[in-house]
Amino acid sequence: MANDNPKGPRRSRHRKRGDPAADQRRALIKEAASARQRAVAPYSRFKVGVALLTEDGQMATGANVESVSYGLSCCAERVALLAALTAGMKRFVAMAIVARADGGVMPCGACRQLLAEYAPQAKIWVADSRALGVIREFSVAELLPDAFAAIPTNSD
Ligand code: THU
Repeated sequence: MANDNPKGPRRSRHRKRGDPAADQRRALIKEAASARQRAVAPYSRFKVGVALLTEDGQMATGANVESVSYGLSCCAERVALLAALTAGMKRFVAMAIVARADGGVMPCGACRQLLAEYAPQAKIWVADSRALGVIREFSVAELLPDAFAAIPTNSD
């Protein structure tokens, strides 16, 4: 857990100063929270927002978009990742995910596969929209160990 206050959930007026990593985490979580407002989720009404950061400081955001043909709905993580990739971004260092759920939500299996392929080094930061200061951190390898990475060259 990347909670910046070891004594427990941090309130904004008690913020620890002078920690660039913590500032970056907070800033990206804030961007994800604002992207969440743009979710198009009329069926589940469950809004998810994502912000993705590159090594050179570029950022892309996304939110989930649902279809009346439910299975076509697309998770916020993939919307953000595909937007970033098609904007030419690479070398992702972090993805922040915000939803209204205790402890935040974890990316689904499909999103984990794409993260393993296109953002393997990214730290995944997860927060509840009602507790943005409590951030849990995961690595992509931790979320999808032994990911399928390439078609074996010796296949028939
Ligand atoms: N959803 C996401 O966007 N990301 C997640 O990590 C979990 C689920 C979306 C998909 C669907 O629009 C809604 O949440 C309910 O599953």
